[in-house]
Amino acid sequence: MKRVIAIYPGSFDPPTNGHLDLIQRGAKIFDELVVAILRNSEKAPLFSVEERLEMLRESISQWENVRVESFAGLLVDYARERGAQAVLRGIRAVSDYEYELQMAWMNRKLDSSLETVFMMPAGAYPYLSSKLVREIASLGGKIDGLVPASVEIRLRARLRDLSSASR
Ligand code: PNS
Repeated sequence: MKRVIAIYPGSFDPPTNGHLDLIQRGAKIFDELVVAILRNSEKAPLFSVEERLEMLRESISQWENVRVESFAGLLVDYARERGAQAVLRGIRAVSDYEYELQMAWMNRKLDSSLETVFMMPAGAYPYLSSKLVREIASLGGKIDGLVPASVEIRLRARLRDLSSASR
């Protein structure tokens, strides 16, 4: 029987409970789900790719069919290398739709055999993004319930280090 492999790509800087919600949903419908962190030298991330790999790996151990990797270059090339038939992306609100549609169309143009599957996160997370989590934490706001506890600990530590380095 053909196994359906999906890639869930993203920056995951840091991983949030919204990402984990989507991973859980993807793990239910795909035989294998590969969470793939983009190695992007243009952006200046808060966490290194290795740290993000660790954070995600710590959070996905309950799903046997999920693994975490990093990738560089075109997503369609990476998906082909992994034998994946689908790309999983989350859509939280209408505002996500245009960007996601553009990427999905472009990926289809690059490789028409690769399908993009959109899923909605749980109702608790329509407003949640890594960018907002970084901003709220850096301004001293509460982020419990928005990220796994282990991510919150690392985030607070990273922000403490950055603020003491800038003094
Ligand atoms: O979490 P993000 O930052 O919204 O994820 C964006 C990501 C990683 C899915 C996208 O930038 C991507 O796939 N980059 C790989 C390079 C590529 O294939 N670009 C063309 C996309 S149409």
